[in-house]
Amino acid sequence: MESSAVHAATIRLTHPISSSRPFLSHPFKPSNLNLNLNLKLQHKFPLASHNPSLLQPLSATLSDAHSETENVELADLDWDNLGFGLQTTDYMYVMKCPHGAEGVFSKGELKRFGNIELNPSAGVLNYGQGLFEGLKAYRKHDGNILLFRPQENALRMRMGAERMCMPSPAVEQFVEAVKETVLANKRWVPPPGKGSLYIRPLLMGSGPVLGLAPAPEYTFLIYASPVGNYFKEGLAPINLIVENELHRATPGGTGGVKTIGNYTAVLKAQSAAKARGYSDVLYLDCVHKKYLEEVSSCNIFVVKGNVISTPAVKGTILPGITRKSIIDVGRSQGFQVEERLVSVDELLDADEVFCTGTAVVVSPVGSVTYLGDRVSYRDGVGAVSQQLHTALTRLQMGLAEDEMNWTVELR
Ligand code: COI
Repeated sequence: MESSAVHAATIRLTHPISSSRPFLSHPFKPSNLNLNLNLKLQHKFPLASHNPSLLQPLSATLSDAHSETENVELADLDWDNLGFGLQTTDYMYVMKCPHGAEGVFSKGELKRFGNIELNPSAGVLNYGQGLFEGLKAYRKHDGNILLFRPQENALRMRMGAERMCMPSPAVEQFVEAVKETVLANKRWVPPPGKGSLYIRPLLMGSGPVLGLAPAPEYTFLIYASPVGNYFKEGLAPINLIVENELHRATPGGTGGVKTIGNYTAVLKAQSAAKARGYSDVLYLDCVHKKYLEEVSSCNIFVVKGNVISTPAVKGTILPGITRKSIIDVGRSQGFQVEERLVSVDELLDADEVFCTGTAVVVSPVGSVTYLGDRVSYRDGVGAVSQQLHTALTRLQMGLAEDEMNWTVELR
């Protein structure tokens, strides 16, 4: 890796990324932005997203740009049309653990976003020793930014790291790194109501290995991208197909942790489903081929009357943070929420079905196809998923009181 880094402490001194000045007028109007200044900045201060080879020291460029960045509040993006594609941002966070699986991470640093260098024999490239996380930051109307339950992501990464024989950052290190990454990329956090900044922490075996073994060195990295809706359907109901042959996870395997390989395992069925016009794939347990597991990138819930059921997490299902939050929100709203085995028959007989995940938030399911038969739930968005979506997103966006103490505010 190039020595282009500067410690976060330096950034705080030279760049007012954590300024407490509310920088958006109230109510928010994109027209308040000084677009001329924005263009001028892009000209004078080309970013790594435009030229990844620009890995120059930050201390000089940040103080140079200081006076101009103060007034440049948002990146020049079409905020009304964000999808879920990578839009590179200004900085990434990098932290190393050079002492093997038993080691600890030393202090990390912000760097210009750009390519990373890996030994061809790196553990992550050869043996898939890698985990990732996903969480979101929302911009409030007062200009402050909210993170949603970042400690949960830190804890989940630690659980996953234990399974994958990797060291992982302490919870405080993880959360601090997320905060620094978001503040450094503050201009990429979408305006209120337009989307969120998706934060992607990665943990990988970056040291070289040839014989099968845990890598001798690990890298923790965070990058971020502004995003809108995950599915091309937007907030409209999605159409799932139940996969009967290919499986996502097996008992005793790694399905319950967020290892990168779990997501490769679903690509074949997902690609085939998309080619046939479905939004995504719902997987069944590999033993009985009868019980619901999860969708490629999210958890699943079925609604029958006042009862909301979701598959229990027992090693083959990812313990989603949105899943866990929706269980609590559902209970607080008077629903009976059950975590248990949920059969495919119950799915077909449900009043409503929805998916949850950081990327998908709460996504209503319009139809499910199983062994060639299609069951449609209702034309519009189901009332329960709508109610839970509203409750959760109002919390995440700072529009409702956070009685659960789930959000972390960056000023
Ligand atoms: C997330 O929801 O954050 C995920 O990790 C799913 C990913 C495939 C987008």
